[in-house]
Amino acid sequence: MAEIVCIIGNKGGTGKTTLSHMLCQGFGLVRQRSVCVLTDTHRQPLDPDGRRYLIADARTSEALGKVVDKVRSLKGWLGVIDGGGNRSDMDRKLYSLANLVLLPFRDSHEDIRTVIKDLETFPRAYAIPSQWPTNPWALEAANKAVRQHLWRYSDRILTPVPALSASKLLLQKEIPAALPTPLANACRALAYRVLELLEVPCAEPAEEVAAEAAEPHAGDPACAASPLPQPQQLNPIRH
Ligand SMILES: Nc1ncnc2c1ncn2[C@@H]1O[C@H](COP(=O)(O)OP(=O)(O)OP(=O)(O)O)[C@@H](O)[C@H]1O
Ligand SMILES: [Mg+2]
Repeated sequence: MAEIVCIIGNKGGTGKTTLSHMLCQGFGLVRQRSVCVLTDTHRQPLDPDGRRYLIADARTSEALGKVVDKVRSLKGWLGVIDGGGNRSDMDRKLYSLANLVLLPFRDSHEDIRTVIKDLETFPRAYAIPSQWPTNPWALEAANKAVRQHLWRYSDRILTPVPALSASKLLLQKEIPAALPTPLANACRALAYRVLELLEVPCAEPAEEVAAEAAEPHAGDPACAASPLPQPQQLNPIRH
């Protein structure tokens, strides 16, 4: 049975969609097959061509049920469901069906206040610092804010995902043929951490050395231990 990861949270713009795609990209890089599931009715599905993962459109409740059932039936696969901001009912629903729940938050007091509420509401969920500063001074200030305000939840805070301008390449309708190495490294590290939490066996990834584009894609024979389902099987509704 597939594992389902849901990326949710009450606040908009925390990085749910970016993180969903980074996670799926990372899964592809560590040879895990995954599906990135869109639930946000304000967004359009991205083109699956050239990605290391499938894209599923689940913007209606009926479609979500079908997609989750389909993904669950795919042995060894991982489903990553991208929630949407300000949708408490949807967040509760996704929480109830997920094996693992991630709550991204950025380096702001408003995000921290919201993630505290979400951590209380969803006791199995993990918070994940997103778009985290890389400049040493800003990084120290951000980490200090987390230590001050989130110390009670320190065992539920994952390693930050750094701010990477290249992350937006994954959200382009069509993905570029080659992605920068720092992005690949961040995606791989994130995927590895999530696999560890899900207790899915996977060798710890080495840092990228060669160009990311040189590696095989999810559809390549080298990656396909079992046949890939067709993307349309996972897209009961197309808009
Ligand atoms: N790791 C990152 N590095 C740099 N920019 C990022 C990162 N993650 C997200 N962003 C940027 O932050 C903005 C919001 O990200 P995103 O759309 O993923 O958030 P969201 O939580 O899905 O928003 P919404 O609640 O509207 O669905 C986007 O402009 C995105 O490019
Ligand atoms: Mg989003």
